[in-house]
Amino acid sequence: MDIKGELRVAKLADVPPGGLLSVDFGGVRVLLAHADGELHAVRDECSHEAAKLSDGELEGATVECPWHFSRFCLRTGTALDFPAMDPIDTYAVRVEGGDILLSRAAGGADR
Ligand code: FES
Repeated sequence: MDIKGELRVAKLADVPPGGLLSVDFGGVRVLLAHADGELHAVRDECSHEAAKLSDGELEGATVECPWHFSRFCLRTGTALDFPAMDPIDTYAVRVEGGDILLSRAAGGADR
């Protein structure tokens, strides 16, 4: 991790439009999603019973959990359907030289 708290986690080419990729961010599994023309990064763990959201489905700027089908907003981490109620952490994403860098988002990953 560099001085800005950023970590290179993948190549941009690894997450094509419509793609999902699970990466390690300092010991935390984070889901990278290329949806609606943007890259998003959220905790790769459902807030209901900890399913891997990277095994789920993208629907616009949301990801649907593979176990009980709660959807989460990829921008805010908000749970949009029951049974999940709590949000998931979000991370700041930046692309530099074809690499994807992650850092903790203000008000996101430290909750
Ligand atoms: S584990 Fe995701 S909705 Fe139940």
